[in-house]
Amino acid sequence: MKAYPISDSVFCLHADIQTSDLFEGIWPIPQGVSLNSYVVRGDKIALIDLVRDWTDAPKQLEAELASLGITFKDISYLILNHLEPDHTGWLGEFKKINPDIEIISTAKGIELVKTFYHFSENLRAVKTGDKLDLGRGMVLEFYETPNVHWPETMMTWEAQSGTLFSCDAFGSFGALGDRVFDDQFNAEEHTFYEKESLRYYANIVGSFSIFVERAVKKLEGLNIRCVAPSHGIVWRKEPLKIVERYLKYATYTNGKPEKEIAIVWGSMYGNTKVGLDAVIRGIQAEGVPYSIHRVPNEDVSYVLADAYKSAGIVLAMPTYEYAMFPPMAYVIDILKRKHVYNKQVLRIGSWGWVGGAKKEYEAAIGDLKWTSLESHEWPGAPTESDLKILEERGRSLARAVKAL
Ligand code: FEO
Repeated sequence: MKAYPISDSVFCLHADIQTSDLFEGIWPIPQGVSLNSYVVRGDKIALIDLVRDWTDAPKQLEAELASLGITFKDISYLILNHLEPDHTGWLGEFKKINPDIEIISTAKGIELVKTFYHFSENLRAVKTGDKLDLGRGMVLEFYETPNVHWPETMMTWEAQSGTLFSCDAFGSFGALGDRVFDDQFNAEEHTFYEKESLRYYANIVGSFSIFVERAVKKLEGLNIRCVAPSHGIVWRKEPLKIVERYLKYATYTNGKPEKEIAIVWGSMYGNTKVGLDAVIRGIQAEGVPYSIHRVPNEDVSYVLADAYKSAGIVLAMPTYEYAMFPPMAYVIDILKRKHVYNKQVLRIGSWGWVGGAKKEYEAAIGDLKWTSLESHEWPGAPTESDLKILEERGRSLARAVKAL
């Protein structure tokens, strides 16, 4: 395994994680994820962001460092842009190997070092504008970028190579294999990583979109020639592409979603599905693109990504024991937690002996700022009259999306 040079003095190390574990204990990563760290070598050596002991990440890191002739003991500074344990979980072991390491983070980051890892020495808190001179022209400058993703987060800047070490920001799910740079992947691979960057954004960063916009504004004056996140592709050919993509994602729940519809449905015996098919005919007649997700069969991670980006949402569910179909209640809870605001939403569904989904649903969506189209419910199997109404509801939603 080898390190990947960004310049003569700046290198990317990355651990590819292939696991059936869930990211953050919630989100599936069937195509893996990368944990990127970076080495900046002056007279002294800094390591930017670490790994957790996940699959064999520390061994991958060690082997890539060895390709530069560096051991863990040679590192003078550990820069922690963010304390979430995917980037710090191995810190205790690292500190045993290199007890003299100086750990640098924001003041809030240093507090988290103490609470997560119980260290109290060789800790340095930095703020925006502070610099660390490594010698030989290598100077690291720090920018506090709170809430991208946690409140303690910062980014690190190295001017000579024009590299921005952005940690979670501008990251993606998806392992990288033996390539890391944007110019090393073909168009098909980029399509995959783009989808995975949206899923990562919606799952991990989406609640903090306003802070993404603030962070990008703060970095406006930098002549960025390489965006080096701690998950996913390193952008050296088109560094602003991923920044612009993130800014676009940040507007998806704030007025500029894609003119698409995310359909989320669950059905016990097929009656809600028959009604949904009529809605889909209406959407198709208006020519609006749509994605479709059945719950609980499909993981909410993917539902969230499409709901997040789309202007319109269809929620099709039966009443289940006087309330919402439980997997749909979970989806709505996740949409709420992840701030999937400002959508045009159509709810439909069947009921057996009595309704009830409506009451729970209306209470659940209270602060989501959704525009609700007139819903339609029916007992048992839908009649021809129901199907006509449902098809028209699909058309209405599609027209509302097109009109945005
Ligand atoms: Fe990659 Fe918020 O940690």
